[in-house]
Amino acid sequence: LNYTVMMPAAGSGQRMGAGYNKLFLKLDDKPILIHTLEVFEEDPACDGVILAVKPDERMQIESMLEQFAITKVVAMVDGGGERQDSVAACMKAHGKGGIVLVHDAARPFIRRTVITELVKVADEHGAAIVGVRAKDTMKYAEDGIVEETVDRGRLWIIQTPQAFRYALLKKASDEAQAQGFLGTDESMLVERFGESVRIVEGTYDNVKMTTQEDLLFGEILLRRKKV
Ligand code: CTP
Ligand code: MG
Repeated sequence: LNYTVMMPAAGSGQRMGAGYNKLFLKLDDKPILIHTLEVFEEDPACDGVILAVKPDERMQIESMLEQFAITKVVAMVDGGGERQDSVAACMKAHGKGGIVLVHDAARPFIRRTVITELVKVADEHGAAIVGVRAKDTMKYAEDGIVEETVDRGRLWIIQTPQAFRYALLKKASDEAQAQGFLGTDESMLVERFGESVRIVEGTYDNVKMTTQEDLLFGEILLRRKKV
């Protein structure tokens, strides 16, 4: 089952505090962006990646793709002010149908086995997202005062990738953009239509490189990958 990736890479990495786009930071000898792209480069089921970038980073990214022999980026579009805008820009550039997978450029540790399962479930049911079970006790609070301990058995921590039949995500993305509805993930945009979204259980190491300590974890994960 083949798929195309919509990959937002047009953020500024505020929380990483590097002073520039965190995706350019190196883990071992390669930029984070390249590690993420390599996962799809190596997956024969991936037809191509549409990358959303900041206009003033386009040239730097183009030369990076060449340097690291990334061949599957089929289009590079201008990202927008919010992550959702960047994903919408990717969707605009893709008109082919099939299964689309949205994946953060900042998650280099996604595993092929999880992607394969996700795409299969999205193809069967329309929408599927990767999540892991909450490990800690979870409480609902207002102003720092506990209101309720929630049922952890029903709580999922949601990551990317998220996969959809093209027409479904296209409709959801267009509507959200037109109405000024801002979600924190693509699933939210689809949920608004009452569509059911299935969760595929992923792995805890699919961390998003967000703050400095994530880089430490990332270095360790890379070392494990090598042995
Ligand atoms: N992203 C994007 N366009 C935006 C904002 C984010 O394409 N306007 C991308 C980021 O490049 C990243 C992914 O969306 O690959 C997830 O976003 P996040 O981890 O929040 O990255 P940043 O927005 O760059 O970081 P921060 O929120 O700390 O500034
Ligand atoms: Mg952000």
